Formats: sequence, structure tokens, C-alpha cells
Amino acid sequence: MSTPTIPVTKTSHSSLPNFNMDEIAFGKNFTDHMLIADYEDGEWKNVAIQPFSPISLDPSCAVLHYGQTIFEGIKAFKNDKGEVVIFRPDQNLIRFNVSADRMQMPAVPEWLFMEGMKQLINLDKDWIPTKPDSSLYIRPFMIATDPFLGVRPSMRYHFMIILGPSGPYFSAPMKILIEQKYTRATPGGVGFAKNGGNYAASLHPVELAKKKGFDQVLWTDAIEHKYVEEVGVMNVMFVIDGKVITPSLERGTVLKGVTRDSAIILLREMGYEVEERNLSVDEIVAAHKKGVFQEIFGVGTAAVVSMIKQLANGDYIMDFDPENMPIAKALKQELHEIRMGRKADKHGWMVKI
Ligand code: COI
Repeated sequence: MSTPTIPVTKTSHSSLPNFNMDEIAFGKNFTDHMLIADYEDGEWKNVAIQPFSPISLDPSCAVLHYGQTIFEGIKAFKNDKGEVVIFRPDQNLIRFNVSADRMQMPAVPEWLFMEGMKQLINLDKDWIPTKPDSSLYIRPFMIATDPFLGVRPSMRYHFMIILGPSGPYFSAPMKILIEQKYTRATPGGVGFAKNGGNYAASLHPVELAKKKGFDQVLWTDAIEHKYVEEVGVMNVMFVIDGKVITPSLERGTVLKGVTRDSAIILLREMGYEVEERNLSVDEIVAAHKKGVFQEIFGVGTAAVVSMIKQLANGDYIMDFDPENMPIAKALKQELHEIRMGRKADKHGWMVKI
């Protein structure tokens, strides 16, 4: 199918002159335009790029009551040559449609996701920050818009893309509590999907951990709270005795992170042994007692590589020196250099606009 032309309505009042590129937070500011499309009668229609603005929803619509909503997080950069590049958006499209399938939502076609994103970024490219650790964060999402209170898959949806200049998600190394009561995901559940409810359900346990002085929790498996799964909203990597270990995806309770996948590929290329497998809290504690638990860090789109300075298993506290995490640092640097065009993009990850 040839790509339909997407009509564009430009804003008459850009907010860019009022935006301070030196003070960029995560997720607070948005560019001048957004993309919106409707799904109705079994097809995507009314695709448009228009000024960023509130949308109106019927108070009875399905997303507001039953949480039928999914999203993605992607990043675009201006590289050293001044080119606008997006990091592995094809992987986010695949995962978006995996999430859509699990939440009984329609697939979004490639042209709508990719062309819509590229055209929107092109229009708002002056918003892409160039400060270290900053990027243009791309948030595609889909919501169910049927005005009906019965519990059934909606027949109408909005697909939207919004963009925001963003700084790092976590600015400082984190203190993490191993979660022993609450659960992020269960086998047969929706842990592998990027649906809003997963994030809503994480808020209460994280607030409880914050009251105890931690920043986030390390999620453990739903059955025994024995095996580690994710940290906060990120995948997690451990360095034990020189080997990198990350929880495997096979139980369907760990999100198939694009940064996780990239990290595994790059770390192996850098000569590290990487294992994707079940990793128990007992093994972690035993490694710490032996003095071979060397590094722990989160990997994700928003946070990229995020150092962890403390991990607590109940009263047993494991401290780490974020300055002494050579593998995490090397990974962060490697990703940065590929994104900036300083190192060859061997895998064709950077999509130019
Ligand atoms: C991302 O890394 O893009 C995420 O999904 C985390 C987000 C919830 C801020």
C-alpha cells in the first residue's frame, strides 16, 4: 500500500522561543505538534498532524474505566553531523503491536507509526536538544474511545504521537529495595506488554519503598518472590564474577526492552559474557557475601543506563560505588557514540529522517 499523505496544520504560536533548552526535565514539556488518527469501522482514518492541544473524550469512554491503553517510548537525537536520527523505532513498532494484540486492540500499520513519527519529528526538529544526556522523547500511544460502559473490546481508538525534549529520567544513582510482597507481572498476565495498567499497579509498592528511603523497587517473580525481574520501569543487569546476567524473557513477565536487547548485543561485541536466565535473590546475596557482586544497573529507553548504588534485601544492605561500574559506563558510552554517529552503526539501528 502506498503511504497516504498526512495533512499538516501548523501552529501559529510556537512555544519554542519560551522553552529553556538548558533546563530540560523528563516528560514535562512537549513540542508544538502532535499526530492523531482514529480507528473506526475496522480501519485507521482521519490521520492528521496538528498543533499540540488537549483532546476531548466522552466521560464514558473505555480507556477511562477499563484501562485499554498502550504506549511506547523512543528517542531521537541530532548527531554530530547535525542529522536527525531515531534509535531502533522498528523494534518499538513490533512491540507496540504485540502489546495491542494482548490488550485486544487493533494493530497500527507501519506507515502510520513510522511515517507519522518521521513527519512529526521533521516538523518539530528544532526542539531536539543537544545537551549531553538529552534527547527528543517520542511517545506513541493508543487509547480506547468507545463511549460504552460494558466490558468488551472498544470498537473505536485514537492512535497518537507526542514528542518532548527530555533530560535523563533518573539523574542520580538509585537506592533499590527488593520487593517481597507486591508483584509487577505474573505468567499468563500482561508483563510483556506496555500497557498503562502495569505502570499504575507499580505506583503503590514504589511509594511504600520511598517511605522507607528507597527510590525504586526490584521486582521479583509473582509465585515465590525468589527470582528478579525488572527494576522500577527498566530492565535490570547484574555483573557477578565478571559475567553480565539479565533476567530472561521466557515467562512473559519481563518487558522485551529495546535498550536491553541493544545492551546484550553491544556487551557481547565488547567481549563480555552475557547470560539471559533466571537469577535468584539467594544467588545475588551469596555473590555479595563472596565479594563477586560487582555492578547492578537498569537499562531502558527513558533512563538509558542507570546506576544503582544500593540494593536492600530486607535488612541486608548491598552498597555499590557508582564510580566503579566499568561495564555500565562502557555500555552507556558505546550507546552514546553510536547515537552521535561517532562509531559505526553496524547493525543499522539509527534511522535517519
Ligand atoms: C521508557 O523507558 O520509555 C519507559 O517506558 C519508561 C517510562 C514509563 C518513563
